Amino acid sequence: MDVDTAKRAAGTAAAALVDDGARVGLGTGSTSRWFVLALAQRVRSGLRVTGVATSEETAQLAIEEGIPLGELDGGGLDVAVDGADAVDDDLRLIKGAGGALVREKIVAAAAARFVVVVDDTKLHGHLAGVIPVEVIPFGSEHTLRLLAATGAEFAFRQRNGRPAMSDNGNLLAEGMFGRIEDPEGLAARLDAIPGVVGHGLFLGMADLVVVGRADGSVEQRSPAAPGDRVAAGG
Ligand code: 5RP
Repeated sequence: MDVDTAKRAAGTAAAALVDDGARVGLGTGSTSRWFVLALAQRVRSGLRVTGVATSEETAQLAIEEGIPLGELDGGGLDVAVDGADAVDDDLRLIKGAGGALVREKIVAAAAARFVVVVDDTKLHGHLAGVIPVEVIPFGSEHTLRLLAATGAEFAFRQRNGRPAMSDNGNLLAEGMFGRIEDPEGLAARLDAIPGVVGHGLFLGMADLVVVGRADGSVEQRSPAAPGDRVAAGG
């Protein structure tokens, strides 16, 4: 009865949503890991899928577990399943604590359906916290100063006393944000900075959020239909 039970419940429930023959985006992180393990179990029972991994770490896991892998360039994806660091009431996400945000966003955007798997500690009324930003090494200190103008202090993530690098060979800047009142505005400002490859705000992308709880139960949340919030008095 802990957070890992909740992550496992979400990942396992998402694996049940994958159809035979599907091309599937495989996310990165501890909740996605449960998804990959549950999907691999279905593959061993005869399900045919082609996985496209969002990180070297996930590719390695998929290979070990016997999930056939393919390239994104081989065609679109039927579904992508990935974790998140925060989910707000409008199913907007912060992602990228694992540093795989750029590949994760490319894969999520290429999928007909983007399914997010989280434990319930990730649910918040509004977005706040660390937003990772992948930055090319050229002019990176200058890019860091431009990032700071968005209202948060940014620093490069460190690993073993050295700047951490993404699978793409880029740096990972991190900014700590309090309550983000205008996620779309912030995303536009980050997108407009030369040197930024991508950032951890995934807005309007989630088609379904599968929430796992510590008792092993799951809840599925879909985006509100246009007008729902107004109709509900919000
Ligand atoms: C990696 C990610 C992860 O999906 C996110 O950090 C959630 O991880 P976890 O499931 O371990 O809590 O975005 O880049």
